[in-house]
Amino acid sequence: MQRYTTTAIVLHWLIAVLIIGAFTLGLVMTDIPGISPTKLKYFSWHKWAGVTVLLLATIRLLWRLKNRPPALPDSMPAWQRGAAHGLHHLLYVLIFAVPLSGYFYTLAAGFPVVWFGLFQLPVFIAKNPALADTLKPIHYWLNMVMAGLVGLHVVAALKHQFVDRDGTLGRMLPGRSH
Ligand code: HEM
Ligand code: HEM
Repeated sequence: MQRYTTTAIVLHWLIAVLIIGAFTLGLVMTDIPGISPTKLKYFSWHKWAGVTVLLLATIRLLWRLKNRPPALPDSMPAWQRGAAHGLHHLLYVLIFAVPLSGYFYTLAAGFPVVWFGLFQLPVFIAKNPALADTLKPIHYWLNMVMAGLVGLHVVAALKHQFVDRDGTLGRMLPGRSH
């Protein structure tokens, strides 16, 4: 069976690790009461990881538009192909929408985003507390939707690996053909 390209595999796993890290950090940092140096540090790391996801997602989407993924196994029923494609589309939307909502929220809350303390992202939203109050729950809920869909995605991957044994997971793993 054909695999995804090495570029697609590297980007898939790099983005997955960064998203899981940013998600966990997001929950931990917002639970720290008051203001402390640790909290501020975690907020910075969170934003750096999130902006990195945005950058990698852009490269990934461009790569994906030029490189078709390998065909799904013939044994797969039509509804499963449809579900997999629909879910993958939604995940592509969310790997942009989640970091963008965090970025827009941060600007509306009146803070610039300085990637790794080096490169300042454009400030195209002026401080706007009402908008910040709207964007904060949007960032939260987009995250919860993404968490649910990633959960489904992982359950589907494990089902293909251990129940159907059709080599689907191997397509997304480095150096394995099945
Ligand atoms: C893949 C990317 C990202 C993920 C998975 C993610 C996830 C999360 C999560 C789970 C929370 C906790 C929400 C809560 O409990 O209220 C959070 C909060 C936050 N995120 Fe993100 N985020 C991402 C990207 C970003 C980016 C790029 C920025 C800004 C540049 C950002 C800024 C924030 C801020 C400021 C908060 C705190 C909100 C508050 O005070 O409640 N996030 N994020
Ligand atoms: C935040 C976490 C993750 C995100 C956002 C994500 C997103 C995606 C997306 C968008 C695709 C479609 C790729 C394309 O056709 O261009 C994909 C494929 C895939 N993912 Fe993930 N993924 C994540 C985590 C995982 C994990 C943890 C596993 C394994 C347990 C996994 C297994 C797979 C597999 C096997 C495929 C290939 C499916 C196929 O052959 O069509 N993913 N993922």
